[in-house]
Amino acid sequence: MRMMIFFVLLIALLSAIAPLPLEALNVRGHLLKSKTFLSPPFFLRPGSVSNKFYYDVPFPRGHLAFKSFDAEVVDENGAPVPLHETYLHHWVVEPYYALKKGGGADAQGLPKRIIARNSGVCKNTLGQYYGLGSETRHTATWVPDPYGIEIGNTETAPEGYEERWMINVHAIDTRGAVDKLGCTECKCDLYNTTIDEYGRRLPEGYVGGLYCCYDETQCKVREGFNGELRKLFLRYTVRWLDWSDAIVPVKIYIFDVTDTSPPDERSGTACRVEYQVEECSSENRAKNECIDVKVTKEVLPRGGDIVFGTAHQHSGGLGASLHGQDGRLLCASIPTYGNGEEAGNEENYIVGMSTCYPKPGSVKVSDGEVLTVVSNYSSDRQHTGVMGLLYILVAENEQPAPKPALCFSFPVPWCLPTWLTSNL
Ligand SMILES: *[C@@H]1O[C@H](CO)[C@@H](O)[C@H](O)[C@H]1NC(C)=O
Ligand SMILES: *[C@@H]1O[C@H](CO)[C@@H](O)[C@H](O)[C@H]1NC(C)=O
Repeated sequence: MRMMIFFVLLIALLSAIAPLPLEALNVRGHLLKSKTFLSPPFFLRPGSVSNKFYYDVPFPRGHLAFKSFDAEVVDENGAPVPLHETYLHHWVVEPYYALKKGGGADAQGLPKRIIARNSGVCKNTLGQYYGLGSETRHTATWVPDPYGIEIGNTETAPEGYEERWMINVHAIDTRGAVDKLGCTECKCDLYNTTIDEYGRRLPEGYVGGLYCCYDETQCKVREGFNGELRKLFLRYTVRWLDWSDAIVPVKIYIFDVTDTSPPDERSGTACRVEYQVEECSSENRAKNECIDVKVTKEVLPRGGDIVFGTAHQHSGGLGASLHGQDGRLLCASIPTYGNGEEAGNEENYIVGMSTCYPKPGSVKVSDGEVLTVVSNYSSDRQHTGVMGLLYILVAENEQPAPKPALCFSFPVPWCLPTWLTSNL
């Protein structure tokens, strides 16, 4: 009986101090919203590859500020799937403009979709707003306050078009694989591929990478290995705020260490996305110097404050960094490797990348500054299809952020009128 009363009291107390729905949090006076979605299902059997592009995926609607995007692969029961069973090569989320339905006669001849890319600097690849791979479970994507990635602004959509979202998920099932790392590195011999997705012969000397592990390819599995066909999903959680003047917009830049075009804005870029790390020489091995350091220079079109940064690397990665024209460190991102079996801690896989959250205003870059991108890999052995990407968010606003409105979350969310708070 005593116990009963205790529980009744406890429930009464909890409901009194939790007046907000669980998904809502109050961040600096603004109501942070959060929603979890499932991608369309994809199906994998041992050794198979799925690289699908899903258009018009479920997504928050309206004029919003993106605050974070977290994702992972789950099975039919919603259970997280470990990387040694389903390797998440990457997921990418990207807005595009879709021709509005009922566009009428003038819709004829117009493209159905117009890609909306990030602010640079690659021209044809890497246009995503967010994108990660195996590291997704332990890599922060949070955009710090008072910043936000502006989405859903109907004024920036081309006439007759509306913003929608595309998600690309590239996953490799390595259950029973003869060489799990080889399958995740897309070694062509393990996939028995000699032509790419479009039927073209592979480039001379190409031994591994995305050309060999495209959608519906099959990696080599141990003879007699049986594993059921799995139905999987990318489960993603988006956090956002309704857009307001209190939010400072940030631009997204992705730098690719394979971009070898000269640091000249007009020359266009050649982001090849992937590269190959050769096994170190015996002399270097003797000196214990089996590190592959790849460096390139990139021009930042518009300067501002860097407010967030992180890198993307594959297994074997040792860290990547971005430096200013004078060599100062802008952001270094270091991988965390798992050391267990369970999802989020898989041994020998990169399960997280460290992130940079500079004190607002402390890391400045200028218009047209030539940045240096560095990506380090262990060259203890050869690695194919590796990546070295640096992702940063830049706030161009020079003026101090407007004062956030004074808001409260009790007993219901409410704010003081701005004419009152602006004079406080
Ligand atoms: C590999 O590909 C070749 C030709 O494309 C085919 O003849 C052969 O059977 C394939 N081998 C395996 C193990 O799938
Ligand atoms: C990359 O390797 C070089 C040479 O060993 C080292 O000086 C640098 O600090 C490394 N950078 C990162 C981000 O690990």
